[in-house]
Amino acid sequence: VDLSAANTLRLPCQAERFAAPSTLTALGQTLAKAHHEGWPVTLLGGGSNVLLPEKLPGLVVRPDLQQCWFSQRQGHVLAHVGAGVNWHALVMTTAARGLWGIENLALIPGSCGAAPVQNIGAYGVELADTLQAVQVMELATGRVDWLDAQQCAFGYRESIFKSELAGRVVITQLVLRLSRTPAPQLGYGDLAKRLTGSPTPFAVAETVCAIRREKLPDPQVLANAGSFFKNPLVAGAKAAQLLQQFPAMPHFPQQAGQTKLAAGWLIDQCGLKGMRDGAFGVHQYQALVLVHFGGGDRQGLMKTASYIADQVEARFGVRLEPEPRLVNPC
Ligand code: EPU
Repeated sequence: VDLSAANTLRLPCQAERFAAPSTLTALGQTLAKAHHEGWPVTLLGGGSNVLLPEKLPGLVVRPDLQQCWFSQRQGHVLAHVGAGVNWHALVMTTAARGLWGIENLALIPGSCGAAPVQNIGAYGVELADTLQAVQVMELATGRVDWLDAQQCAFGYRESIFKSELAGRVVITQLVLRLSRTPAPQLGYGDLAKRLTGSPTPFAVAETVCAIRREKLPDPQVLANAGSFFKNPLVAGAKAAQLLQQFPAMPHFPQQAGQTKLAAGWLIDQCGLKGMRDGAFGVHQYQALVLVHFGGGDRQGLMKTASYIADQVEARFGVRLEPEPRLVNPC
């Protein structure tokens, strides 16, 4: 099965087998079959944050659970969403219903099931802020279980699904805690400037879409996986030393004396914005996004990425790490 259209970077990838079960029962049966046959299992969501290899032996599973329903609890509205629901569609649905909580996360590509894996975040909001619980199915046994937000061990672009539970469970459902009480989060970037009065969650979501469209390339038009590098966390002393040299450097103090730097700014300062290296390049408006012009593969992309990381390291002494996940047959 050709997965080159199933990943937004359009990296060429041939999977030996592919399944998209649309019920929990069907998913359980699919996993039991894979277990019985000894096929390695690779999980895929919307394919917008993965670096796929040219060949994937075994079985690729993309859960297609599409349910979405709402319940009320203690002044909150809980959204119960299947892993296969498109994330952006969910944001626009809840925002249109006047529900607050995820409006800043509009236009993030991918599926709801993938959202907790890297704790998606943008414009001052993270999934962790509204996530109440995650339903998972254990690959080896088909057992269904629930994790609360604390058990998910969320951090910046981090969760237990990338560490202890990586390759062990498939996320099947999310429960999000939303609210009818206005709670706009407009502190990041231009958001407050672009919105006046008391905005609705829908107005906030539309403004976030407008800002993203100005800078981030549409993967349908130019293949990409959003930010290619994580914003690096450095020790406070390292940030202070860099600020002496580069007083205009964007920096965001974090917990435990660490400082988050803007990888896009570091790359931009190296003069790499808009650069092209064969099939790949750095986006002309947002240096953090690598784009694929066509004809390349993962190896070529990693070569371009290492070149960029080397340039940044030589100039700033900070090593950038890729944000999308390297998918490997296991
Ligand atoms: N900057 C530059 N040049 C560039 C890009 C950025 O100088 O080419 C500077 C900006 O001027 C700004 C700073 O870097 O001062 C930060 O830029 P921006 O606000 O655009 O955000 P970002 O750090 O580049 C992060 C997330 C995005 C998210 C935005 C908005 C990561 C790795 N990326 O990007 O997430 O949409 O903030 O919250 O944390 C993604 O993960 O795929 C993604 C797009």
